[in-house]
Amino acid sequence: MSSKLKVVDLFSGCGGFSYGFEKAGFEVVLGVDNDKAALDTFKLNHKNSDIILGDLHLDSTLDEIENKIGGKQIDVIIAGPPCQGFSLTGSRKANDDRNRLFYSVFKLANRLKPKAVIIENVPGLATLYEGRAKTAILEEFDNLGLTKNFKVLYAPDYEVPQIRRRIFFVGLIEELGVFDFPEKILSEGKYNTCLKAIGDLPSRLDDLGEEIDSYDKPAESEYQTMMRNGNDVLFNHVGTKHTDLVINVISQVPEGGNHRDLPPGVGDSRKFNEAWTRYHSNKPSKTIDTGHRNHFHYKYNRVPTVRENARLQSFPDNFRFLGTKTQQYRQVGNAVPPLLGFHIAKKLLTYLDKKGE
Ligand SMILES: C[S@@+](CC[C@H](N)C(=O)[O-])C[C@H]1O[C@@H](n2cnc3c(N)ncnc32)[C@H](O)[C@@H]1O
Repeated sequence: MSSKLKVVDLFSGCGGFSYGFEKAGFEVVLGVDNDKAALDTFKLNHKNSDIILGDLHLDSTLDEIENKIGGKQIDVIIAGPPCQGFSLTGSRKANDDRNRLFYSVFKLANRLKPKAVIIENVPGLATLYEGRAKTAILEEFDNLGLTKNFKVLYAPDYEVPQIRRRIFFVGLIEELGVFDFPEKILSEGKYNTCLKAIGDLPSRLDDLGEEIDSYDKPAESEYQTMMRNGNDVLFNHVGTKHTDLVINVISQVPEGGNHRDLPPGVGDSRKFNEAWTRYHSNKPSKTIDTGHRNHFHYKYNRVPTVRENARLQSFPDNFRFLGTKTQQYRQVGNAVPPLLGFHIAKKLLTYLDKKGE
């Protein structure tokens, strides 16, 4: 049996968080999600992990997890539940469905007794229900006898070329102390940019590309070399052919601009905050979301391909996404950037390696 520290990933999606943990030297024994396409992607990229396609609302899914683990000591539970899964509006009875999604993490932790529990979510969770959501989560760590800490991390500080912010709650068993979040790796001015992240990828304007393809030039930055990861084929780099109207509108948005930079009468069909956003080549990208309509390449008049979004999320090029294009974009946008996960996992190792065994 492997001597690596063992991880269970709840709400695993395609496994961005898991990928970071594996890179740091953990063994992800199991991923659980109710989305078949995401789990297919998870399995393809985590060949040694088990998967469960199941609804984490259900206690029977928790039973299935326990059975699958078969008595192995699990060191870490990581979880990125959807934030709609948190509700304080119902009663806190164990069987209240509205609470169960989030609380399934704590219920499983109570059964498996891991040394660490990490929950990731959108920063808005900290202020949800006037802060009571956050307080309720911290109370659950208390109930499990875990120490607790939480922090909003800014992805560019951890080498990710994207201005994503996410909150992380970390609970540790008492003897390990309180988790201190990893120091920043990069500071402003040194951040990885869109150009450094995706500048080497083929344009895919008229030639929309195949699902499996190849590079047309060498890597041009350290980040691109890291993302190529020795890979020589290109997956999921399929261009989108827009209507002439869309191409005409986006061609008028300057780098780093959005609908506010358009002349009067142009692009009026979309006017919300992120509409007609064009990335800036010399800055990290906007937060990658689960859609593929509102953000555009810094240079080409099209939305980024799944692979470009994956690069901006720090997925290496050998990480392949399955499902329809819409499902692939959703998997990428939902994920914890693997590099961010990696830096958290590396820091966690310093606690578990010292006194965890
Ligand atoms: C934010 S994503 C997690 C992404 C993942 N941590 C990663 O790094 O790739 C949330 C996931 O929760 C899953 N999910 C939502 N409701 C669920 C449920 N009732 N049971 C199991 N999984 C669920 C979704 O399919 C989605 O993949």
